Parts: sequence; structure tokens; C-alpha cells
Amino acid sequence: MLRRSGASRGTRIHRFLVYYGNTRVGVADVHEDRTNAVCALIVGIAKAHRGKRIGTIASRALLRKCFLDFNARRVESSAISSNSASLAMQDGMVEEGRAVERFKVGNELFDEVRFRLLKREWEQQVASRTAPPA
Ligand SMILES: CC(C)(COP(=O)(O)OP(=O)(O)OC[C@H]1O[C@@H](n2cnc3c(N)ncnc32)[C@H](O)[C@@H]1OP(=O)(O)O)[C@@H](O)C(=O)NCCC(=O)NCCS
Repeated sequence: MLRRSGASRGTRIHRFLVYYGNTRVGVADVHEDRTNAVCALIVGIAKAHRGKRIGTIASRALLRKCFLDFNARRVESSAISSNSASLAMQDGMVEEGRAVERFKVGNELFDEVRFRLLKREWEQQVASRTAPPA
């Protein structure tokens, strides 16, 4: 007999659609680990709509949602080292390290690059963006 273990009880996945005006241009997932108050972000923008800062704006909106609505104390994301767009999009997030040779694509091996933002780091960033000029 199998019983549901407690391991996943505290995990919720929130799914979002990303709109540009009235057009649906992407998707985003937040994996919320409620036990540890940690959220992980995944964002995907349709090819035709990339490079217009939509991913950056969607990520900022998701960070706000994680810290204010889901009460996260830490938000994480990661990118394969070959994905230059995703690496460049980690606006404000702090690189924490690499899982070396984590991914195999064909015969090539790539690292996983890990990023984080703590709630206090995010609050400092928001304060510095909204501070009036001295
Ligand atoms: C990663 C992704 C979400 C970026 O979305 P986007 O709306 O195109 O990104 P933005 O326009 O906001 O650009 C973000 C940064 O990436 C850079 N960038 C965009 N496309 C790029 C490309 N093809 N190569 C290198 N850098 C790129 C931009 O110059 C910008 O950097 P800057 O802030 O220093 O100017 C999008 O490329 C995507 O959906 N990729 C496939 C799914 C994926 O890899 N998701 C990430 C896993 S979480």
C-alpha cells in the first residue's frame, strides 16, 4: 500500500499566462515550497515576442507576487549555460553558483547556473529604484 508522503504537502505550482496588450505571448510557473517559504520561477516567451523586454517585466511582476502574495523569503531560478537570453534576463537576481555538467544536449554538456533573490535584497532594489534623486 502506498500512502501519500508528507514531502510534497507544502508545495504548490501556480501557472500564469503572460499578455502583451490583449495578445497571449508567454507562460510562467511559480513553484512554491511553502515549508521553506521559497519560490522557483520559470518564464517562457513565444519566439515572435522575444527581445522586447516582456520576459524582464514578467519576471519583475512574478518576483513581486512571490514576495508579497506568496510570502516567499527567497526566490530562485536557474538557466542552462548555453541560454544567453535567460542568463541575461536574470535582472537583479544574484548568481549563486553552477551545477557543473548538469545538462546533456546531444553530445554536449552544459552547466546549470543558479540564481537567487532574498526578500531583503529585493526590498533594497525596489527602494533604490523608487528613491527620489538626491
Ligand atoms: C529567456 C526569455 C524568457 C527572455 O524573454 P525576453 O522577453 O525575450 O527577454 P527580454 O527582452 O526581457 O531580454 C532580457 C535580456 O536578455 C537579453 N536577450 C534577449 N534575447 C537574447 C538573445 N537571443 N541572446 C542574448 N541575450 C538576449 C536582452 O538583451 C536583455 O538583456 P539586458 O537586460 O542586459 O538588456 C525568452 O528568451 C524565452 O522564453 N526563452 C525560452 C524559455 C527559457 O529559456 N526560459 C528561461 C528559463 S526560466
